[in-house]
Amino acid sequence: MGKKVTVVGAGFYGATTALRLAEYDVFETVVLTDIIDGKSEGLALDMNQSRSIEGFETRIVGKTTGVDGSGYEVIEGSDIVVITAGLPRKPGMSRMDLLEVNAKIVRGVAENVAKFAPNAVIITVSNPLDEMTALTQIASQFPKNRVMGQAGMLDTARFTNFVAEELDVPVSSVKTLTLGSHGDTMVPVPSQCTVNGKPLADVMDADKIEELVVRTRNGGAEVVALLKTGSAYYAPSAAAARMAKAVAQDSGEAMPVCAWVDGEYGVSGVYLGVVAEIGAEGVKKIVETPLTDTELAGLTEAAEAVRAKQADVAQM
Ligand code: APR
Repeated sequence: MGKKVTVVGAGFYGATTALRLAEYDVFETVVLTDIIDGKSEGLALDMNQSRSIEGFETRIVGKTTGVDGSGYEVIEGSDIVVITAGLPRKPGMSRMDLLEVNAKIVRGVAENVAKFAPNAVIITVSNPLDEMTALTQIASQFPKNRVMGQAGMLDTARFTNFVAEELDVPVSSVKTLTLGSHGDTMVPVPSQCTVNGKPLADVMDADKIEELVVRTRNGGAEVVALLKTGSAYYAPSAAAARMAKAVAQDSGEAMPVCAWVDGEYGVSGVYLGVVAEIGAEGVKKIVETPLTDTELAGLTEAAEAVRAKQADVAQM
C-alpha cells in the first residue's frame, strides 16, 4: 500500500506543506483537514487540478473536520500527521503569546489523531513550537520517538541563507547549524558552520557572524513584521515536508528537529532542538554534535527555559 500523510490545518502553512508533499509524488494520498467549512475541500480540488501540469499522481483529499472529531475518519491509516492547526503571530507578538489559544487547539487535534491514526508519526509545527510538540505527546500519549516538532531545519535554513547572501556564494556551499529552542533561546552553533568546507570563522569576522546569528534568531519576527497579517510559511513548509518525506522513505537522514532528549548533552526529559536521524518510527537516534563550552552552556540554558514552559502546558 502506498503511503498516506495528513496535514491538519489548511492555512498558509498547512496548504503549502500539503502541496509540497503531493509534488514529491512519493505518497499515494495527502489528506488536508481544517475546521473551516469547505476550505480543505476547495484547496484539495485546486491542487488536484495541478497534477497533470506538474506531473504527479498523488491524490489530495480535503475534509472539513469538527473539534468533536467528526470527519476524522479521513485520516485513518495515516503514516504521518503534520499538525499545523493554530493561530499565527501578528506583528509585535512573540510565539509565546500564542501559548494558551494554540494549546487548546493542539490538544484537541492530538487527541483526535491518537484516536483515528494511532500508528502515525506526528510532526507538530504550531507555535510556540517546543511547547506544542511536548503537548502533542502528552495529549496523544504516543511513544516520544513518534512525536517531533519542526523548527531546527527552518532556523538552520534561515542562517544558511543569510550567510550565503552575505558572502555571495551558493547556498549549497554553506552548512550551518542551530540547536535549542525555536525562540529566544535558539542556539546557533557557529563552530559547526562551514563555507566550502572551511570554518565560518575563517571567512567572516566575529561581529558579522553575531549579526547574522541575531537576524536568524529573529528570522520569524522579521517576516511577520513585513507580512503584517500572518507568519512565514514557504521555508517552514519546506522543512516540515522534508521531515515527513524522511519518515515516509525511512531514510535515516540526520536533520535538526525538536525531539525528546534523554541524556544527550547532559540534558534529560525535555523536547529540544537537536540533530536526529529520522525514519519510519520517527526519531531513530539523536546525533550529538561537538559543541564549544559556550554553545553547550547555551543549549543547557535553552533546555531549562523550555522545560519550565513545557511543564505548564501539561495543565492546558
Ligand atoms: N483543527 C483543524 N484546523 C484548525 C483548528 C482545528 N482545531 N483550529 C484552527 N485551525 C485552522 C484554521 O482554521 C486555519 O485555517 O488552522 C489554520 C491556520 O492557518 P493560518 O491562520 O493561515 O496560520 P499558518 O500560517 O498556517 O500557521 C499555522 O504554524 O508557524 C505556525 O505560528 C504558526 O501556529 C501557527 C501555525
